[in-house]
Amino acid sequence: YPIWWYQMPMAMYSFFDKFDCNGKTVIPFSTHGGSGWSGTLEDIRGLVPDATMVDGYSISRNNTATSRNGILNWLQEIGMTE
Ligand SMILES: Cc1cc2nc3c(=O)[nH]c(=O)nc-3n(C[C@H](O)[C@H](O)[C@H](O)COP(=O)(O)O)c2cc1C
Repeated sequence: YPIWWYQMPMAMYSFFDKFDCNGKTVIPFSTHGGSGWSGTLEDIRGLVPDATMVDGYSISRNNTATSRNGILNWLQEIGMTE
């Protein structure tokens, strides 16, 4: 999700409203324009207190073109690749 006004877009709130992610694993992945996560990890935690939250990955929009290796490393770290 992109950071909009220091928050997740409303669509993310609708998603967590509609689908009960408690007991599931949430893998945060976000892009931003300078404010990083902006507290959205805590916001997700508050919405789904009983979900397992994996270390997420956040990219500045200035670095998206060169983000491939960083994303692949992250996916490897969290066990999402072979
Ligand atoms: C309505 C709106 C609000 C935004 N608010 C923030 C913000 O508070 N902090 C931030 O770092 N970036 C903010 N941005 C920048 C977006 O996070 C950034 O452009 C996006 O993550 C990059 O993905 P995109 O190319 O799909 O836009 C905002 C962008 C929009 C359109």
